[in-house]
Amino acid sequence: SVDERIADLLGRMTLREKIGQMMQLDARGDLDDEILRVNVGSILHTSPENLYRAADLVKQTRLQIPLIIGEDLIHGYSFYPGATIFPEQLGMAVSWNPELVEKAARVTAEEGASTGVHWTFSPVLCIARDTRWGRVGETFGEDPHLIGEMASAMVRGYQKGPATSGSLDKDAILATAKHFAGYSETQGGRDASEADLSHRKLASWFLPPFERVAKEGCGTFMLGYESIEGTPVTFNKWLLSDVLRGEWGYKGTLITDWDNVGRSVWEQKVQPDFAHASAAAVKAGNDLVMTTPQFYEGAYEAIQNGMLTEAELDSAVARILALKFRLGLFEDPRLPDAERIKAVIGSDAHGEANLELARQSVALLRNDGALPFDVTADGTGKTIAVVGPLADDAQNQLGDWAGSSGQVTWMPDGHPRETITTVKDAFESLVPDDWTVTYSRGANVVDLVTDPAGELYPDGQPRPKIGVSAAVDQQLLDEAVASARKADLIVAVVGDVVQLIGETCSTATLDLLGGQNALLDALADVSRETGKPLVVVLMSSKPQILPASIVGENGVFAKRVNDPEAGAGSILWAPSPGMKGGQAIAEIILGVTDPSGRLPITFPRHAGQLPVYYNQIRGQHGDRYADLTQDPAFAFGEGLSYTTFTYGDVTIENGDTPFGSDDVIHAHVDVTNTGDRAGVEVVQAYVSDVVTSVSWTDRELKAFRRVELEPGETKTVEFDIPVTDCSIVGSDARRFVEPGEFELLIGHSSRRDDLNSATFEVR
Ligand code: IFM
Repeated sequence: SVDERIADLLGRMTLREKIGQMMQLDARGDLDDEILRVNVGSILHTSPENLYRAADLVKQTRLQIPLIIGEDLIHGYSFYPGATIFPEQLGMAVSWNPELVEKAARVTAEEGASTGVHWTFSPVLCIARDTRWGRVGETFGEDPHLIGEMASAMVRGYQKGPATSGSLDKDAILATAKHFAGYSETQGGRDASEADLSHRKLASWFLPPFERVAKEGCGTFMLGYESIEGTPVTFNKWLLSDVLRGEWGYKGTLITDWDNVGRSVWEQKVQPDFAHASAAAVKAGNDLVMTTPQFYEGAYEAIQNGMLTEAELDSAVARILALKFRLGLFEDPRLPDAERIKAVIGSDAHGEANLELARQSVALLRNDGALPFDVTADGTGKTIAVVGPLADDAQNQLGDWAGSSGQVTWMPDGHPRETITTVKDAFESLVPDDWTVTYSRGANVVDLVTDPAGELYPDGQPRPKIGVSAAVDQQLLDEAVASARKADLIVAVVGDVVQLIGETCSTATLDLLGGQNALLDALADVSRETGKPLVVVLMSSKPQILPASIVGENGVFAKRVNDPEAGAGSILWAPSPGMKGGQAIAEIILGVTDPSGRLPITFPRHAGQLPVYYNQIRGQHGDRYADLTQDPAFAFGEGLSYTTFTYGDVTIENGDTPFGSDDVIHAHVDVTNTGDRAGVEVVQAYVSDVVTSVSWTDRELKAFRRVELEPGETKTVEFDIPVTDCSIVGSDARRFVEPGEFELLIGHSSRRDDLNSATFEVR
């Protein structure tokens, strides 16, 4: 059995060999010596070609324990030229379609496995609340239920089943739930800043999605950079041992994030040296230590000094070996397979799956009546002006973790241009032959400059450059305006660029940078003067703030932003939409595809309105700004279709009798397509606990369904909601269902006026 094989191997390993197995090293440098000397257990960021050499070196080690190969396959196979890059996670969440997300993860696993990757550091289960955080686009948004649904779909797609028992198929890879837990709860949105979370806050929002994937057998968990009540997660026995391994009974493997152990010494300064840091990390329950070379000597010294016992090391090593046995690496190191690579990387079938997800990852936020724009209905020889810095920028369309972020030295040029369809490309191929598509960039976004705070941090580390808003380029602007004046439809594609997103790249503002606002102002003028329709495509990895010329004045008296009277044009949001993003966007504008995306995150009107997530704890009357409405620009769950839907009354079966805590609430609602096109409605069910003994939110998403409806069609949509899902968290950080009155709210978005309700009681 696996347990017997682990015990046998452990019994033959030296202390040094055990320490080496606990290390994961960055393979971008020359690792030959480390593989031989350290007997390292795992490597990450390696090119497939190097894996043969690494496997040969392993054969020269005493026990020939195979390497486990990790990689950041985040929204597709990030680092292999021509592999499939899907919309980023936040875009996937816009689809509210777990089945498609599972399919995407399956594609990624097949492609990754073919090139010798065994393990991906995905999905991200962080909750995005301060959208200035650079990694918002890597999340599934702001809601724990939606995150849980999407994350478990992704884990199923990668692993094809639990990885904490049994074995993994040849085309499956291990998933990682990250970053455990609360890493996104930053200060001011700054990545890796101190979070200092309370146990109650964690139990209320941040832990539930992790608990769900732990119970479904997600193979590994990665630990965040931040602290909980003063103790960095890496050393947090309460979180790792008591909660994760204890209460949840998690049997998988834990890995630190990048040099968490080392940084505790030289950055956070909570450990005096590497011996203490290594001992504390093992004692807290870590198994693999990512990219801290000092762990090799640190752990050894800790054992010599009696700070750590070899037995404590053994449990960690046993869990790492278990992963390797489950993957069958001792029999087959799963090296790159040239034939499989040819068959699966960027295959047509994978492209189809990508396009389908890209289509559903676009949200129509406002339609001023011009969409869909039907090129077949309206004469011949017309022109579409495609403008904007993101309209034909293939690498920035892919976003972060897509070969373009400078993380990989073997892919300096990113993904081949011909594998990516930009908005400009797509319009050129979709319009009739006698139509013309013009393109002008219109504006630049950022210039990178040395931070005036200095080139080095006080400790001598290099300080990264900062991106300052690029100046308005009058010539680019004039060209774009001239092309818009000649066109019959203006499509402006604006947003953010990879320098402004991702790890260590949070932004202080959410404004469109560079000449983009000036461009939109000028195009809004053209549209108002000439009546030409304007479509603004926000291709940004997170919610950004559009200028007043588009959304109306952002102040106290502003109308709802999706009121077309309030500004100019129609608005689509496509967060880093992947290789097929341009195709999906053009199809939606032209009405070939109906928009069906819904917001997994609230759009603020102004960065100063943050946090603006929908499920905030109920406050008192002063909980507001005096200079800004509390109404967000676009609410969680919102998104339009080209048709319209109405909802009937919410019916709860046996709703007059109080429910017990083990009951399941069966409810249904009729939804009708009242327009003249087929469309998809995402029916959302929220629960509100009317009076709570501890402060709590007004409503929380508990279930949702994507429903396809033909014109005039009515469907009865059913929900089964266990009463246990209606729990709240007490002051002792424990969940419980509090007897009393509840509301079940079902409808189109998280806005109360979009929801119909019925009440029920819990005894
Ligand atoms: O997986 C990532 C993590 O999300 C952030 N730090 C680096 C890791 C490995 O690249």
